[in-house]
Amino acid sequence: MSCTVAEAPIRLLLDQHTIQSRVAELGAEISRDYSGLNPVIVAILKGSMPFFVDLSRAIQTPHTWDTLQVSSYHGGTSSSGVVKFNADLSDAIEGRHVILVEDIVDTGRTVSYLLNSLSTRNPASIKVASLLDKPSRREVPVPIDYLGFTIPDEFVIGYGLDYGQFFRNLPFVGVLEQVPSLPF
Ligand code: PRP
Repeated sequence: MSCTVAEAPIRLLLDQHTIQSRVAELGAEISRDYSGLNPVIVAILKGSMPFFVDLSRAIQTPHTWDTLQVSSYHGGTSSSGVVKFNADLSDAIEGRHVILVEDIVDTGRTVSYLLNSLSTRNPASIKVASLLDKPSRREVPVPIDYLGFTIPDEFVIGYGLDYGQFFRNLPFVGVLEQVPSLPF
């Protein structure tokens, strides 16, 4: 029998405190590495939003924000393998030190596509920060320079990660133990 989004059973994987402690460490590391470089940090919408904001507040060196949107899942529970570019950066990155901020690296296709695409714009450097890494699902090797947590191959939601656009608001990361029916 299916359940509603509100009833969906969720098993805790990373609690709020654990996430925030790790984000603080990553912010301190980035602050050291980019001191004096005025990097631009780029949110890969939509999933990276909570991590992006918390990470930015943990970075003590001056930096700017930009966003872009690509999608690869199209609403399912596993990657389609197809990356679709929906919205570009608002500013040029030529000569800038760029940090792409992801919520999760799964097949690696999204990050690989973005590294290839953005490197043609002649940034000074491009690095990748990701809250989560699911290495068992990798199809394309990609570097993750700042990684929060390595996780097993389970469908995770919360702290930006969604199922059918729901659950992004949860302050923790959990495993969706039963797939709910969606209202839309
Ligand atoms: C998810 C996630 C990453 C990507 C990772 O985005 O936020 O961007 O998939 O998968 P990959 O390594 O297999 O490419 P999604 O397309 O679901 O969009 P969203 O951020 O709006 O949820």
